[in-house]
Amino acid sequence: MTNISSYAFILVIILLGASLASATLLQERDALRTFLQSRANTLGKGPVKADTYVEADTWADPDSSFKHLPTHCPSSPPGAKEADKIVALPGQPPRVNFDQYSGYITVSEEHGRALFYYFVEAPYEASSKPLVLWLNGGPWCSSLGAGAFQELGPFRVNPDGKTLSRNRHAWNNLANVIFLESPAGVGFSYSNTSSENSVSGDTRTSVDAYIFLLHWLERFPEYKGRDFFIAGESYSGHYAPQLATVILALHKLGATSMNLKGIFVGNPLLDDYKNTRGMFEYLWNHGDMSDEVWGEITDLCKFGPSESAACNESMASVNTGYDPCIDYHVFDYFNNPEVQKAIHARANTKWIQCKDLPWTDAPVSMMPTIDWLVDNGLRVWLYRTYHPALTIRGILPELNVIIISTKEELRKRAFHNEACGQTVLILHRRGLSSII
Ligand SMILES: *[C@@H]1O[C@H](CO)[C@@H](O)[C@H](O)[C@H]1NC(C)=O
Ligand SMILES: *[C@@H]1O[C@H](CO)[C@@H](O)[C@H](O)[C@H]1NC(C)=O
Repeated sequence: MTNISSYAFILVIILLGASLASATLLQERDALRTFLQSRANTLGKGPVKADTYVEADTWADPDSSFKHLPTHCPSSPPGAKEADKIVALPGQPPRVNFDQYSGYITVSEEHGRALFYYFVEAPYEASSKPLVLWLNGGPWCSSLGAGAFQELGPFRVNPDGKTLSRNRHAWNNLANVIFLESPAGVGFSYSNTSSENSVSGDTRTSVDAYIFLLHWLERFPEYKGRDFFIAGESYSGHYAPQLATVILALHKLGATSMNLKGIFVGNPLLDDYKNTRGMFEYLWNHGDMSDEVWGEITDLCKFGPSESAACNESMASVNTGYDPCIDYHVFDYFNNPEVQKAIHARANTKWIQCKDLPWTDAPVSMMPTIDWLVDNGLRVWLYRTYHPALTIRGILPELNVIIISTKEELRKRAFHNEACGQTVLILHRRGLSSII
């Protein structure tokens, strides 16, 4: 792709992203809120032990932190594209005009750790369209249940929990999209070293995702060198920049199969404390919280490592209004043995959307990593959808960027693309007011 069409692609993708289902964001947000609270408790006491990857300065010097990783696949990894092809998903609508694949990639033979992916190609001209890796956040939330089947994937699960309908805003209209269940322990991804299913951290997650990609590209070699983007939301404010960091560091050492062009992350968690403050401020600004409660929160909360019981209480009193039904449809669908068979998942997996488990390592602020990526020439797009799940306003000063807020300005950025213009209107109705 030329640079211009590459930019246009990202913009269109981002604009489509604003039509994501809100329920999943909320469920992810719940996982995130629990994570932030437990972090607040443990930060003073040091990280949870149990993970050999934990190194305080992993992200301080990426060039040396990841040089032990392979730049190429050591040997032809097992598994074949043909074996991963999905004949048809149970309950899928008629006339599906694109190819779907799913299966496992082993990321550690020693520990028996494998990540599950679902890959959908574009219906038309897949061979000239970019490759996108989508990562949901949590941490510990499934990209299959959330991203693929409630947000940007080609299908949505109907209320019967058995049949699917088409999502006309699917990103695979524009790109070939991999949904990765990450880390091991999430969704269908697993480790035979059982302790690894219940404790993970940023470093292992990003290293595993890198190994996954290296091996996946051996299974789908036609995507080697293809324009490649990493996208996600919420806790992917960590996952996406960190995976990009590993890829760029290894690229310098000769890894060439991944042609990373940029990352784009919606409602990203970039700073534990500023994001929390920003979320409440957003709810107040949008009339979802009374002046009284907002006054209490600003008086009582420090938005730092430790909060008082009174602050906790006022934060907990904020009602965000959430309809949990949609998650049950997806839950039913992926726990159906017929579906598990059709997607080549391990039989009898008890699949769940999000978990609340210990997390060993995560920087409080992602800004040094974002800076490193930008210094290394990567395009980084952060955007906010209409949902207050997370707001990036609190970190704008650090990013030193402008907010594009009018339809006309967005249109200009969209290279006068009609389709973009229309999508922008939709976004505005839904309340999107900033794209960085
Ligand atoms: C995990 O163990 C099972 C049973 O021994 C084996 O079939 C499977 O290949 C192992 N998975 C990995 C990733 O090594
Ligand atoms: C505030 O909430 C956090 C997270 O739930 C908890 O660990 C902490 O003890 C609470 N603070 C007080 C003073 O109750």
